[in-house]
Amino acid sequence: MRCPKCLLCLSALLTLLGLKVYIEWTSGSKLSKAYPGHRGTLPGPAPTNAEPTLPSNLSVRLGQTGPLPSAYWNQEQRRLGALPSGHCQAWGVAAASAIPDFASYPEDLRRFLLSAACRSFPQWLPGGEDSHVASCSDNDVPYLLLAVKSEPGHFAERQAVRETWGKAAPGTRLLFLLGSPRGEGGPDLRSLVTWESQRYRDLLLWEFLDVPYNRTLKDLLLLAWLGRHCPGVTFVLQAQDDAFVHTTALLQHLQALPPTWARSLYLGEVFTQAKPLRKPGGPFYVPQSFFEGSYPAYASGGGYVIAGRLAPWLLQAAARVAPFPFDDVYTGLCFRALGLVPRTHPGFLTAWPADRQKDPCALRDLLLVRPLSPQDSIRLWRHLQKPGVQC
Ligand SMILES: *[C@@H]1O[C@H](CO)[C@@H](O)[C@H](O)[C@H]1NC(C)=O
Ligand SMILES: *[C@@H]1O[C@H](CO)[C@@H](O)[C@H](O)[C@H]1NC(C)=O
Repeated sequence: MRCPKCLLCLSALLTLLGLKVYIEWTSGSKLSKAYPGHRGTLPGPAPTNAEPTLPSNLSVRLGQTGPLPSAYWNQEQRRLGALPSGHCQAWGVAAASAIPDFASYPEDLRRFLLSAACRSFPQWLPGGEDSHVASCSDNDVPYLLLAVKSEPGHFAERQAVRETWGKAAPGTRLLFLLGSPRGEGGPDLRSLVTWESQRYRDLLLWEFLDVPYNRTLKDLLLLAWLGRHCPGVTFVLQAQDDAFVHTTALLQHLQALPPTWARSLYLGEVFTQAKPLRKPGGPFYVPQSFFEGSYPAYASGGGYVIAGRLAPWLLQAAARVAPFPFDDVYTGLCFRALGLVPRTHPGFLTAWPADRQKDPCALRDLLLVRPLSPQDSIRLWRHLQKPGVQC
């Protein structure tokens, strides 16, 4: 029996169903509202990591092969030899005057672009010159450095990490990455942060405004710090302070990696072919006049692991990749410039459903989950310590 109306109905129903699934899926990601929800498909094709290289012209590496879109980033990346080292403000001024609708950009994006090429900031030393965080000593180089991006006011988040997954363990070292505790229009946290820094000696602070759009500064300043103070580190975990890491499972996973993977590691929850969000006023909005195309494959900034020996390579790449407002996408661009690809691992869940957080068994096969409140982190940690948890 032929029934064109039935077919029509069926396809309408299927479309509605698809829409419902899509809406639920996208609203599920709202859980992680503090964190970029750039969407993408998961996971990518089996990557073949090689040694890093940095060609003199990055255009092909960064996929700029066809006709070039007129968006500023795309144009600038093709032109760019290297970002200015002195007179960093000039880059932002030039961007502002070249982007026709710059005045309509959200304020934080405008602020980002105006100072995006300014990347060297002095350390903020709470107790003067002798309050530097200790360098890694020759006979105590960490296997895995836990580098946690925090904000000055997040005292409880940091304390929860110290009391749980960041606890001293053989081969690991914990450091927090922060901007200035002076704030801007906020409370002056200098005396509290000074006390904390002297008590725990695990805060790396720099003199820049600690806002989400400045997170790339934490990545780059950490890489520079590693080069000077901890060049021998094997792996570096870069995570947000609301992440929970199953440290022992992660260490076991890293130790079991084939050496060729380990040498160029970039491991996390990988998004491939994610696209910029175009809703003005919405989170992670990227105007069309700024960037066109897909994002590179990148590991979600909620938490990922890189090989420590890549630090100088990433810094060299960053000097030649045009600034981009989101730290994890920018890291993806720098890896792409080096010819390296991220590896995805299903144990990294950077938008973990809140309803699973009460269940410690859910964590058995996981390496890193977020977002968790400090209280939930402590609860989960206690469960994991109990001998013979029945799952
Ligand atoms: C890179 O190569 C493209 C053509 O493939 C060229 O248009 C561009 O100017 C080059 N960029 C630099 C920085 O030399
Ligand atoms: C990042 O920090 C610098 C230095 O404090 C500041 O000039 C810039 O405006 C900050 N960026 C944003 C987006 O606020």
